[in-house]
Amino acid sequence: MKELIQTIKYQVESYEISNPRELESFRIQFIGSKGSLKELFGQLKQVPNEEKKEIGQLINELRNLAETKYNDLKEQFENTDAASGSIDFSRSGEEFPVGSHHPISLVRREIIEIFNRIGYTVSEGPEIEDDWHNFSALNFPPEHPARDMQDTFFIEKGDNEMALRTHTSSVQVRVMENTQPPIRTISPGRVYRNEAVSARAHCFFHQVEGLYIDKNVSFADLKQTLEYFAKEMFGEKARIRMRPSYFPFTEPSAEVDVSCSICNAQGCNVCKYTGWLEILGCGMVDPNVLDASGIDSGIYSGFAFGMGVERITQLKYKVNDLRLYSENDIRFLKQFTAVL
Ligand code: PHE
Repeated sequence: MKELIQTIKYQVESYEISNPRELESFRIQFIGSKGSLKELFGQLKQVPNEEKKEIGQLINELRNLAETKYNDLKEQFENTDAASGSIDFSRSGEEFPVGSHHPISLVRREIIEIFNRIGYTVSEGPEIEDDWHNFSALNFPPEHPARDMQDTFFIEKGDNEMALRTHTSSVQVRVMENTQPPIRTISPGRVYRNEAVSARAHCFFHQVEGLYIDKNVSFADLKQTLEYFAKEMFGEKARIRMRPSYFPFTEPSAEVDVSCSICNAQGCNVCKYTGWLEILGCGMVDPNVLDASGIDSGIYSGFAFGMGVERITQLKYKVNDLRLYSENDIRFLKQFTAVL
């Protein structure tokens, strides 16, 4: 019996309690109506009379020990904020699902950071645009077939015909109208085009367009800027090449390809065995565009570029179907949980 008391004494002393829940378990195990102390007192009846006094005393001591430990800790926990009622420690834990950033947001943020580092600010504008900012100020004459390059969603708004912007170049017109050079800005945002939805095309997507206007800005500055971007985005080994192209708002214009990072420019099915992937359009801002926005084209020149965020994301994360970005399928999205 003495040995049993000794063992329980050791258990009481060494029982680790760090929160009210553990304290309650302690109470149940030792002090409660079915606890070990109750049991010990029960067994006292069977102890021979001559030992009863001594054993009884030992059990009493043990009870005092357990109760003191219990009361001290109880007081301690009641005095801490957490235990004073606002948190219920007896509730079972709940698992909170961890969310993740959308891959488009991740890449958009990365593009912005890359251009922030070389002094570009971010500018934003409306998604429902008037004809002037989306087309006319950008040197698209009325009825000009170039307007068909971007199939547009038109909206009736009172007497005005408005459009869902087809590119964020419209934001850059707004910046030029309100700021004198030097201008160094990028415009991230959602754009809309009237296209049938498929793996390779969508009726809305995201762009980041850039604009740099100052005295003596040259095509070499444009090339250097884009080369810097490609290396920051796709790694030191990335190279770019420029192909002549046409946009109403830039002259000369170019399309830019980046060396395929998937096959190291060796040729694979993503780059159609060419080693190159098209990532953006660019050019020197047409003097007509500068003049239309109140910037003197006799003094200033500039370059502009525009890229699709989905396209860059596809290359970076090897996603092959554009529709995945807007379907909100958790199985797709949660793959980006760890990417920050
Ligand atoms: N605005 C063009 C587009 O939407 C991209 C571009 C921007 C091209 C700036 C040249 C200069 O496709």
